[in-house]
This record gives sequence, structure tokens and C-alpha cells, in this order.
Amino acid sequence: MSNNINLINFTDLTLEEKKMVLLWRNHPTIKQWMYNSDDILLENHLNFIETLNECTDKLYFLVKRDDDYIGVVDFTNIDKESKSSEFGLYSNPFLKIAGIGRILEEISIAYAFQTLKVSILKLEVFAENEKAINLYKKFNFKEITKKIVNNREVICMELNKFS
Ligand SMILES: CC(C)(COP(=O)(O)OP(=O)(O)OC[C@H]1O[C@@H](n2cnc3c(N)ncnc32)[C@H](O)[C@@H]1OP(=O)(O)O)[C@@H](O)C(=O)NCCC(=O)NCCS
Repeated sequence: MSNNINLINFTDLTLEEKKMVLLWRNHPTIKQWMYNSDDILLENHLNFIETLNECTDKLYFLVKRDDDYIGVVDFTNIDKESKSSEFGLYSNPFLKIAGIGRILEEISIAYAFQTLKVSILKLEVFAENEKAINLYKKFNFKEITKKIVNNREVICMELNKFS
């Protein structure tokens, strides 16, 4: 299924694609689950993407399946020494197709283990984000610890390539 999937680095996006991603990121169903849940201005979004050119520990991708833009996956705190990375994802809020989360998850795990060659994939998710937590559990992510961010409970999860 992943044969027709394309990961487009944010630094290679057209202006139209950058604007589309911002529309998703500012959508209420997406931003409610992000640590920064404020509306992001286009100028800040474009500046952020510009900074990614100089970053070696962060990668953001727009994911395309055939002709559909299906979501975003990102890898942050990529650490070659500890062979670990954090990751995040969100699906296109305007595409009402079931199963997109699974595809994004599969592609993220494959990219992390095969291309980034990390052994541990970490994520943080708000405890009320049942949909995302169910998805992560299906892919064998295990709860490591809990913490509070913005007065909300956050679950820290990890997937170890070797377990
Ligand atoms: C998390 C997200 C990517 C999941 O995408 P999705 O397309 O809804 O997920 P899928 O349809 O592939 O479903 C995957 C699994 O999620 C879970 N799930 C889906 N809808 C659910 C619901 N309403 N309630 C509980 N779990 C649900 C199920 O375990 C499902 O597995 P199944 O297909 O075997 O039932 C998407 O909801 C999203 O972008 N959410 C907003 C951003 C976000 O929360 N990102 C994660 C931040 S940590």
C-alpha cells in the first residue's frame, strides 16, 4: 500500500502546499491536540519552514497518497547518538476517509527505523486524545511515563525497534 505514498519535505513545498498545511494545522480538530493551540500566522509558518533548512534534528513531511494530500508527519529531537527520535502526525481534516491515521503511522515507523535508522521512536499525547492513543497502541507503542503540559495530562509513549 505504501508504494504510492510520497513524503514531501516541508522545505520543498510550493507556497500553495504550505498554505494548505497551515489551514490543517489551524483547524480546531488538529490544533486542540497540539502543545501550541494558538492560530499560527502565515508569516510565522513560512519563517518556521525556512528555519528547517538549517535544522539537522527536525524533519517535517507532507504525505501524499496518489493524488490526495493525506496528512503531516514530523520527526523532532532526532538524536543519532541515542538513536532516538520523537514524532508527531495529523491527518488532513478535510479528507473524510477512514484509515488515514494507520497509513501515517505505518509510514512514520518505516521512515524512522529504515531511513533515519533510529531504534526508539518517542511521542507525547494528551491523555484525552483517545483516537490517537488507540492508534499508537495498535502499533505497539508502550506508555513510559505521564506528565502535565498546559495543565493537561500527557502520556509519553515509546516504540522500541527491538522489542
Ligand atoms: C490521530 C489521527 C491521525 C488518527 O487518524 P484517523 O484517520 O482518525 O485514524 P484511523 O481511521 O486510521 O484509525 C486508526 C485507529 O484510531 C482509533 N480510532 C479511530 N477513530 C476513533 C474514535 N472515534 N475513538 C477512538 N479511537 C478511534 C482506532 O483504534 C483506529 O483503529 P481501527 O481502524 O482498527 O478502528 C487523526 O485523528 C488526527 O489527525 N487527529 C488530530 C491530530 C492529533 O491528535 N494528532 C496526534 C497528536 S499526539
